[in-house]
Amino acid sequence: MSEPWDCVVVGAGAAGLFCAGIAGQLGLRVLVVDHAPKVAEKIRISGGGRCNFTNREASPANYLGENPHFCRSALARYTPADFIGLMRKYGIPFHEKHKGQLFCDRSAEDVIEMLLSECEAGRVTRWQPCKVLDVRATAEGYDIDTDRGTQRTARVVVATGGLSIPKIGATDFGFRLAKQFGHRVVEPRPALVPLTFDAPTWAAFAPLAGIALEVGIETGAGKKPMRFLEDLLFTHRGLSGPAVLQISSFWVPGQPLRIDLAPGRDLGALLREAKGKSKRQLGNELGQLLPQRLAEAWLQRAGVEGGTPMPQARDKDLNALGTALGRWKLLPDGSEGWRKAEVTAGGVDTRELNQQSMESKKQPGLHFIGEVVDVTGWLGGYNFQWAWASAAACARAM
Ligand code: FDA
Repeated sequence: MSEPWDCVVVGAGAAGLFCAGIAGQLGLRVLVVDHAPKVAEKIRISGGGRCNFTNREASPANYLGENPHFCRSALARYTPADFIGLMRKYGIPFHEKHKGQLFCDRSAEDVIEMLLSECEAGRVTRWQPCKVLDVRATAEGYDIDTDRGTQRTARVVVATGGLSIPKIGATDFGFRLAKQFGHRVVEPRPALVPLTFDAPTWAAFAPLAGIALEVGIETGAGKKPMRFLEDLLFTHRGLSGPAVLQISSFWVPGQPLRIDLAPGRDLGALLREAKGKSKRQLGNELGQLLPQRLAEAWLQRAGVEGGTPMPQARDKDLNALGTALGRWKLLPDGSEGWRKAEVTAGGVDTRELNQQSMESKKQPGLHFIGEVVDVTGWLGGYNFQWAWASAAACARAM
């Protein structure tokens, strides 16, 4: 058996590579293994190929999990400004797109190259593809059986991510390993995912596939329902776009969504105002306020005659239309699942991890970082920021 490693990182994705680079540069002898043939495939496809690598505004309020305060310490100790500083050091051009979201100007490859250079600077060894067959605790640390032989190590860092997009290498390895060492795993579920509707409900809307518009979207009961103001996209099977991806992380099966199709505007009042001035038909007038095809489908579904000339439209009908469009209530029957989810909500229970070091409280020398942990960011660069922050916390504590 070869000389023991100080640390073996399982998973050469965002969190694993970042952790390995820092730990290596701090003087540790680090091995990274990943069963996929290509490095960091999820970074490569992220942000439409441009990687939304952080969010300037990231704070603990942008994350969900059963133990919401857990992420505080790591996020405070490695901030978006720290990662931006690293991007600047490498001369990687980037831009802000929307609400603090930072994207590469050229390609996500820039981020991967940067992480690999950081690993090189830390003399990190990377084996890929390499399968991990078994992990055993020993008196000195761990023995890891891989398809390249058994490796001895003082510490193991699990950075195998979540379950989304199985075709590029996602597995439940991290959750199984956590359970093997007595950890509780919060039931994983697809998040940042398009939502679907049963065929009869959706029949009227399926022809609207491709239409996008800004909406207010809400779910949850009580004093604090979750609400986002974002773009909605109609698809053949249901709803997608940033509005629905955001709300999907908070949606509980059986609960309705409430959608305001004209946020900040009183459509009833606008239509009544138009009645006095316009000679258009109602369908065309509504088409001035909403995408035309949506206006037509809505009127047809509501049984309102779109051909009615505006001067003849009844105030009562216009008010009812405005109210219904501002409070569209609908019940999803599910989501597009792991195939389309951007992330996994749930994961290794953070109550059993040390928030300073990401180390197991049950099994010394075993760490969990990145998406495998029950910390899930909103859409908009927050998930990568968690990968960087949890990786840095772990690497600096080893
Ligand atoms: P990550 O998934 O990056 O890496 C895990 C690694 O572990 C993989 O390389 C995998 O092959 C390996 N692995 C798994 N099982 C293994 C096993 N049994 N043995 C060995 N290796 C194993 N976030 C964001 O902030 N901004 C964005 O723009 C996007 N965009 C985006 C688009 C799409 C399409 C998806 C699917 C996701 C995003 N995300 C995102 C989310 C982001 O990609 C994700 O949260 C991070 O990559 C998580 O980093 P990790 O290192 O934890 O896992």
